[in-house]
Amino acid sequence: MNLLSAQNLSHTFEYKLFEDVSLELNREESIAIIGMSGSGKSTLLHILSTLLIPEEGSVSLFGESVSSMNRKRLGEIKRYDLGLVFQSHYLFNGFSAYENLEVAELLSGEKIDNTLLEHLNIKECIDQKVTQLSGGQQQRVSIARVLTKQPRIIFADEPTGNLDKETASQVMKLFFEYCKRSGAGMILVTHDNELAHKCDKVYKLENRQLVKIQ
Ligand SMILES: Nc1ncnc2c1ncn2[C@@H]1O[C@H](COP(=O)(O)OP(=O)(O)OP(=O)(O)O)[C@@H](O)[C@H]1O
Ligand SMILES: [Mg+2]
Repeated sequence: MNLLSAQNLSHTFEYKLFEDVSLELNREESIAIIGMSGSGKSTLLHILSTLLIPEEGSVSLFGESVSSMNRKRLGEIKRYDLGLVFQSHYLFNGFSAYENLEVAELLSGEKIDNTLLEHLNIKECIDQKVTQLSGGQQQRVSIARVLTKQPRIIFADEPTGNLDKETASQVMKLFFEYCKRSGAGMILVTHDNELAHKCDKVYKLENRQLVKIQ
């Protein structure tokens, strides 16, 4: 059984973004999606991660069709199995970085991993309020929060957009290692071609089609 299977997805906002998009994600696999700004990458990621209902087509997660899940089942899957890192971070602003990780710990029942904080280089700022952190620090805290959950699928939308090249590459290494170690899969949206090509497969969203280029 694969982790995710998407069949014939289409979606339209002001214009038709894409049609007939199909995609499979296996365990330990990483998939990159590239494409011009406005081509619909984030929209596609929202559909794959159950946040948006597609106009046409269907998504299955862990062998279950998302459209046939009741609210409780969908809630469980979101809470325990899906890890989302988006373009904006959605941390709780009134809380410290550490308190944000404690929320993830509480919700998922997994423990905060100190080595992860070291690897992400956020130990020094962990007690500061989210609003006092730099953009890159906020991004690394939101990555720590997602990895704390130990999800089965990571959906990441430009997760290293606010980071310098070296930090970005260290952060991505953590994601790749996590997937191999725990059999998880990752779908990564990025404008960084070099990073995209570190993934097992690369797709480009172009002319409303998702085309495999690696
Ligand atoms: N909730 C929404 N309501 C209406 N239009 C939307 C919505 N979300 C996205 N769009 C439109 O859909 C198009 C694709 O947006 P999307 O965010 O998916 O692009 P993207 O490929 O992720 O771009 P970028 O690389 O700039 O992040 C844009 O024209 C955007 O304005
Ligand atoms: Mg986007």
